[in-house]
Amino acid sequence: MNAKWWQRGIFYQVYPRSFQDTNGNGIGDLEGIRERLDYLVKLGIDAIWISPIYPSPMADHGYDVSDYCGIDPVFGDFETFDRLVEDIHAHGLKLVLDFVPNHTSNQHPWFLESSSSRDNPKRDWYIWRDPAPDGGPPNNWVSYFSGSGWEFHEPTGQYYYHAYLKEQPDLNWRNPEVREEMHNVLRFWMKRGVDGFRVDVIWHLIKDALFRDDPPNPDYKPGDPENNRLIQAYSADQPEVHPVIAGLRRVVDEYPDRVLIGEIYLPVSRLVTYYGEDLGGANLPFNFQLIGAGGHAKDLSKIIMDYEAALPPGGWPNWVLGNHDQPRIASRIGPEFAPLAGMLLLTLRGTPTMYYGDELGMEDVPIPKRATQDPWEINEPGIGVSRDPERTPMQWDASPNAGFTTGTPWLPVSPDYAQRNVATLDADPRSMLTLHRRLIELRRSHPALEMGSYRTVSDEDEVLVYLRELDEQRVLVVLNLSREARTFTLPEEMSAARALLSTRLDDPDRSGPEVRLRVHEGIILEIE
Ligand code: NOJ
Repeated sequence: MNAKWWQRGIFYQVYPRSFQDTNGNGIGDLEGIRERLDYLVKLGIDAIWISPIYPSPMADHGYDVSDYCGIDPVFGDFETFDRLVEDIHAHGLKLVLDFVPNHTSNQHPWFLESSSSRDNPKRDWYIWRDPAPDGGPPNNWVSYFSGSGWEFHEPTGQYYYHAYLKEQPDLNWRNPEVREEMHNVLRFWMKRGVDGFRVDVIWHLIKDALFRDDPPNPDYKPGDPENNRLIQAYSADQPEVHPVIAGLRRVVDEYPDRVLIGEIYLPVSRLVTYYGEDLGGANLPFNFQLIGAGGHAKDLSKIIMDYEAALPPGGWPNWVLGNHDQPRIASRIGPEFAPLAGMLLLTLRGTPTMYYGDELGMEDVPIPKRATQDPWEINEPGIGVSRDPERTPMQWDASPNAGFTTGTPWLPVSPDYAQRNVATLDADPRSMLTLHRRLIELRRSHPALEMGSYRTVSDEDEVLVYLRELDEQRVLVVLNLSREARTFTLPEEMSAARALLSTRLDDPDRSGPEVRLRVHEGIILEIE
C-alpha cells in the first residue's frame, strides 16, 4: 500500500516552553528540542508538532502572534531554527509547525494599522462592527476565555471581535488580501523545510455573514465556563470555511509531501466535513473523540465505530489522547488505566498523536494560585479551567528541576519527578516509557497495526476486543477496562493466537482459547 508518511507515522506534540531549557531562563527553547532528538528517535515517533514559536507578547503563550515569519527570542532565532530543521531531518523525523490564522496579537503591525483609523487600508483585515443601538456589543457572541467576544475601541468608535482574549483580535478571512498574505506565510515556512502545519481553531476562521446571535445552550449549568452558555451556531463552523481551508490545502500541496492538520472540536458528523470536498480539506482533521470519553468498553467501541462509519471514502483516520489544552490522560482516567490508554491509542486504525510526557505517565500538577500562568484561569478563576497543570516541564532525570532547566521553571515541576523521569523509566524494563517504545515497535513491525482494517470483536463485560487485519496478518487487541481480572475466550477462528505484548511487560498467562487478563491489563495477540 502506497501510504504517506503522515498516515504511517506517529506524531508527538512538544509544548516548547516546557520541553527543555538550554539558557537557564526557565523556559524551554528550540535548542532544547534539538538536544533531545535522540530521545524522540529512541521512543520511535515520526513527526514533531511544536506549539507556536513566533514572536509574541505571550498573552496566550504564543497563540497571540505578532509576526508570522519570525522566531520569538525566548525560543531562539533563525540560526537555531534552521539547525533544528536540519537535525530533525537528519534524524529521519518530520517537523510540523503550529499555524495560528484565526487571530493575531493586538500588537501585530496589521492590527496596529487596522485600528489606527476607520479608513486605514487594513481596516477590513479584522472584524469591526458598529455598536448595537444601545451602544453595547454588536451581538451576543462570547469569548472562549469569558466575557463578551467584542471589545470597544474608543478612538474609532467601533467594536472588534475576538474569539479568545481581547489581545487576540480575529482576522477577517473573507478578505482576499488576508488569505493571500497568510498563504505566503505557509510558503515561507515550507521553503525553510517545514513538513506541514497544525492549524489552530480552523473551524473558527469564518463567522456568520449576518452576525446573528448564537442561541443559548440548554445544557449550560452554573459553574460551567462562560463559553458554554451559547451554542456556537453562527460564530464558528460556517459552510464558507471549507473553500478557505481548500485554499490552504492547495498552498500546502504546492510543496511535495506536506501535511495539513486541523484543530477541530466538533461532533463527529461535523468533524468529518473538514476532510473537504473530494478530500481537498485538511489531511487530518484532529479527532478528539477520546478526550471526552469515559472508560466503558461499550462507550469506547461506539466512539470508534461511529467515527469509522462517518469517515468519507479515502479519509484517513487519526486519534488524539491529550494536548496542551486538556487535562492529562493519566489524570483523566487514573494512572492505573493510563497504560491501557497508550495501548489503545497506538493500536487503533489511524495516525496517533501523543502529547509530551504522557509516555512517562505524567499527571496534572496542581498549580498554586500565585504561580498561575494561564490567562483563562486568570479570567475565570477557581472553576477548573486552568491549562497550566498539563503544561508542566518535561521530566528528564532526578536532578534539580528534573533536568529541564538550571533556572527557575516557568511552571512548577511535578513533585513526582525524582521517580517519574526519562532516565529512571528508561532503565526499567516494566515502565510506562518501555511500554510505549514496545507499542511503537510493534506498530511499526506489524502492517496490520499501521494500515490494516478495524473491527470490534467484543465489548462485553468491560473488555474491549478488536481485530486489525491486513492481508494474511491478524492482530487482536484485548483491553481489560474493568477493575478486576477477566477472561476473554477467543472465538474459534482465532483460537491459535500468540501473545505479542502485555501492558504488564511480562509473559501473559495464556494457553488454549482463553486469554486471562489481570486487573488493568491489555494484551496484543497475533492470530496464527
Ligand atoms: C487553541 C490552542 O490550542 C489554545 O492553546 C489557544 O489558547 C487557542 N486555540 C487560541 O489560539
